Amino acid sequence: MSVDILCETPAETMAVGRRLAGLLWAGDVVLIDGELGAGKTTFVAGLAEGLGVDEPITSPTFILMRTYPGLLPLTHADVYRLETMAEIEDLELTEASAEGVLAVEWGTAIEQWMPANHLVVSLRIEDGEHRRIQLVPHGNWVTRPLQEVQQ
Ligand SMILES: Nc1ncnc2c1ncn2[C@@H]1O[C@H](COP(=O)(O)OP(=O)(O)OP(=O)(O)O)[C@@H](O)[C@H]1O
Ligand SMILES: [Mg+2]
Repeated sequence: MSVDILCETPAETMAVGRRLAGLLWAGDVVLIDGELGAGKTTFVAGLAEGLGVDEPITSPTFILMRTYPGLLPLTHADVYRLETMAEIEDLELTEASAEGVLAVEWGTAIEQWMPANHLVVSLRIEDGEHRRIQLVPHGNWVTRPLQEVQQ
């Protein structure tokens, strides 16, 4: 069942990421969706905090992919600029993140090439300012206690 959370500040967006980190295992894939400026990188910064990454998360738009050491290594990718299947395969996203967690901004664009077990995080701008975050489980994610991320 999907979970829906209203976030009124960037700090709240980060807190959702931080709480989600507590549910993550090595090999997990989180695909993050939402228009430009919706808060995708902010959410990943929260994930990173929850995973004990002690470097600041920067937008990977020009680097495409970067792995941060943490309790679990966090691989942060942004596929906004990728256009062809070959470009996506070249990144070897799931290979690069097998030992840790993969978080992909604009990840639903490549959902069909991702493992069946994954979580989609959708961010929506609401009232021009707040954000609504929806967590949508796929595959074995349906058995995880996503409601723990809610409060
Ligand atoms: N819940 C929130 N309420 C208000 N502003 C927020 C919220 N969450 C994030 N923001 C703000 O939204 C702006 C854009 O955030 P961010 O860079 O994380 O978005 P993004 O989706 O990664 O953007 P891009 O599409 O460029 O990658 C930032 O100024 C951030 O602080
Ligand atoms: Mg971003």
